[in-house]
Amino acid sequence: MSKDLKEKYGTTGHSWDGIEELNTPMPRWWLWTFYACIFWAVLYTIAFPAWPLITGATPGVLGFSTRGQVAEDIAAVDQANMQINQQLASVELTSIAGDPELNQYAVSAGAAVFKTWCAQCHGSGAAGAVGYPNLLDDDWLWGGDIEAIHTTVTHGIRNDTDPDARYSQMPAFGTDDLLEDAQIDAVVNYVMSLSGEPQDASLVSEGAVVFEENCVSCHMEGGTGDREQGAPNLTDAIWLYGGDYATIKETVEKARFGVMPNWNARLTEAQIRAVAAYVHQLGGGE
Ligand code: HEC
Ligand code: HEC
Repeated sequence: MSKDLKEKYGTTGHSWDGIEELNTPMPRWWLWTFYACIFWAVLYTIAFPAWPLITGATPGVLGFSTRGQVAEDIAAVDQANMQINQQLASVELTSIAGDPELNQYAVSAGAAVFKTWCAQCHGSGAAGAVGYPNLLDDDWLWGGDIEAIHTTVTHGIRNDTDPDARYSQMPAFGTDDLLEDAQIDAVVNYVMSLSGEPQDASLVSEGAVVFEENCVSCHMEGGTGDREQGAPNLTDAIWLYGGDYATIKETVEKARFGVMPNWNARLTEAQIRAVAAYVHQLGGGE
């Protein structure tokens, strides 16, 4: 150990087998950086959310929060889209598709709305599920032009939250004893014959009579369906609930009651129009 250093700094007093430890102070630059860090940390915990409390944390005097930042970003995007949203909400529905810029905006905004609000029932690709119609095909219960889709989405179907919801109710022919078992058996076989499902041919003509008397008022002559009443087409082999004997029998006995919420309570007019435009261009739009 150099004698000068030992004289200059002294030792810590530790000594191992004659090896001693100099008491060298921390370098100035290091110490000042250290103090500056402490100072910075104190200012930071005053300015920003920092110290955990029982619920939440100290908010910080600057009022910053990451949630607030997201809200600001969203507000900025809304501000930027305000004009086009106003345009979307006010133009003729049928003119949207003819305006490339507006249409492109509507379809991409509509795709986002669909993923958030519609996919849980209609599927993320809109292919539907049992009881939830496929929106990709051209088989429509209530209508597939942009106006019909807009009405369906705005007011919903068979909900009790919007008095203008689309509404109809098929009778429960079994539960309410409107038909006898043999009649139900016959009419189910007749319905199956309409779309070429394998059926008991000996019951079809009897079933046709039951159908004529009980079903054509909604499903129409020949079973082609009625959009005014949301009564499905029974001839196209596209089934909302299922086209096998057991499922059709269950439908006729107990009826169905598909419910969709009204979206005018949750979405803006521009969002409803956007998602209607999105659904309309999926493949089945009329
Ligand atoms: C809670 C489930 C549910 C949600 C969420 C839902 N729907 Fe529906 N939707 C249904 C059901 C059930 C029907 C069929 C009702 C019937 O049997 O007539 C339907 C029918 C429709 C129809 C009519 C199809 C036709 O063939 O006429 C359209 C269009 C539609 N939905 C669009 C949407 C859009 C767009 C959204 C999102 C904003 C959405 N739905 C969200 C359940 C839902
Ligand atoms: C008052 C109108 C009405 C009458 C009468 C009626 N239906 Fe329906 N039917 C409907 C409606 C509306 C639906 C769709 C229900 C839903 O989506 O919740 C439906 C659905 C069905 C389905 C399901 C189709 C599918 O795609 O899964 C079958 C099958 C059916 N009806 C058969 C019959 C038969 C058979 C009769 C006569 C015995 C009959 N309906 C009488 C209105 C009616």
